[in-house]
Amino acid sequence: MRKIELRGKLIVFEGLDFTGKSTQVEILAGRLRKMGLPVTTTREPGGTELGESVRKVILSNDHTELLPLSELALFITCRAQLSSEVIKPALSAGHVVVSSRYRLSSLAYQGYGRGLDLRLIEQLNEIATSGRQPDLTFLLDLPAEKALQRRGEVRDRIEQEDLAFYRRVRTGYLDLTDDDPSVHLLDATASIDNIAHKVLRLVDL
Ligand code: TYD
Repeated sequence: MRKIELRGKLIVFEGLDFTGKSTQVEILAGRLRKMGLPVTTTREPGGTELGESVRKVILSNDHTELLPLSELALFITCRAQLSSEVIKPALSAGHVVVSSRYRLSSLAYQGYGRGLDLRLIEQLNEIATSGRQPDLTFLLDLPAEKALQRRGEVRDRIEQEDLAFYRRVRTGYLDLTDDDPSVHLLDATASIDNIAHKVLRLVDL
């Protein structure tokens, strides 16, 4: 992808918790800005005022009663707000939008992880994003065991999940993307610099 083609494009980092998505978002965004491109960075869940409030509810350990369907509805709420308030306007203004997580997260976590119907999730994703798919996705892939080894003592509600859950989510990511040419699989056991270098090469910078 050449410089001019990056304007108005949506680039997403996906992967399990603790794979370093937000670090890579910042590195790529910094590089794009240095090239003089307008860049908007964002994250899910969150990225809007309402979304950040909902994020607190989703991740709070006080809400262990949250049903899988309720959890999905909250993620979809965040995505709809983010899409309408931030992503769509930024893309229309010619920004490169770089996001940590997007539609694939709900398919992997709520679909494969929680067992909710993938078609239902896709329908909600379509509505929440007005059908906007990422132009490019970097999947930071890490075995579930390794992801959990990076987990600290203080854990949010989802980080409390067991190895079997994280294994299902990882399988989901791999299954959902294996024949998608817009998704680049990156080994998240590599160093930050090494991953960043590969990302920059793949966007032709
Ligand atoms: P995030 O802030 O990306 O956590 P991390 O930086 O640790 O990767 O996401 C918070 C949690 O929300 C994370 O455990 C993944 C989960 N999640 C879903 O289960 N479904 C979704 O659709 C999204 C966007 C996130």
